[in-house]
Amino acid sequence: MTPATHWIVGPGALGRLIAFRLAGHVPVRLVGRRPLPGRQTLVTPEGDTRVQALAMARADALPPEIPAVVHLTTKAHGAEAAHAALAARLPDGVPLVLWQNGFACQPRLSERHRGPVLCATTTEGAHVQADDRVTHAGHGHTYLGTLDGTHADLATALARTLTAAGLPAEAVDDIRVRLWRKLAVNAAINPLVARFAIRNGQLRDRPFRPLVERLIAEVAVILAAEGVTPPGGGGQEGWRQLVWQVVEATASNRASMLQDVLAGRLTEHEAILAPLLAAAERHGLAAPCLADHLTAMRLRAAALAEPPAAC
Ligand code: PAF
Repeated sequence: MTPATHWIVGPGALGRLIAFRLAGHVPVRLVGRRPLPGRQTLVTPEGDTRVQALAMARADALPPEIPAVVHLTTKAHGAEAAHAALAARLPDGVPLVLWQNGFACQPRLSERHRGPVLCATTTEGAHVQADDRVTHAGHGHTYLGTLDGTHADLATALARTLTAAGLPAEAVDDIRVRLWRKLAVNAAINPLVARFAIRNGQLRDRPFRPLVERLIAEVAVILAAEGVTPPGGGGQEGWRQLVWQVVEATASNRASMLQDVLAGRLTEHEAILAPLLAAAERHGLAAPCLADHLTAMRLRAAALAEPPAAC
């Protein structure tokens, strides 16, 4: 019997990377709002070029098959709408894998979806070059698990499939902590580099360094109240080490949020900053720097949504 198809909903860089890598191992179908060329090219981190035909479907014209797994690979702010558009079409029990940043859609879709919901956090790097071309910029590692630690067998089986396909993955029972840790790093780096249009490494210098330190201090207090253990178990120092390590390792990068700003796209500020501020409010904590960034990013998002003035 042929294994059932993995649907990958959201054919951006990560979605196409996953589809490409899985395609030699299990049947895959890329689902998106607009048609993309069926022949896709992947440039590997080693610089090789691979061409492959990938099955595609438009989200409003899905084939009458029942997927084995649905991978949701949209940006964080598109995940719930993408899920809503599919949900009525899926029988109960189809596993959903959420590949989003932040901690916004994960708890909500874990409640809403009528089947197991795995969350994934990955350090795989990919970017889109064209409608038919994606670059796998750097190898990474993926962790998978449900927020309540159930469905360990499913997480292990999927991790095995991903690993065999060249995307090393591991099933974990603490994905909630891992999602918050990635969010913490993103919250300390992304709003600053996006607002000031700087590369990550520039955060090491004045005037930005003290701004990063203030964000880390706010994040550390909020996450301590949330019961999220700091990396290395070391309180605020653990968060400092993690953030500065990532800044160092990605010094020449333009972070994802800056890339979104430069391309005139909506950023993932709601998925990254809003959950921290909601947690701060729950615990009666002040977080003025995080709040200032969220306000600024919301103003930008509102301006993007406004129709151009008639003249
Ligand atoms: O969002 C990103 O680009 C990355 O997660 C990070 C770690 C901030 C590095 O640029």
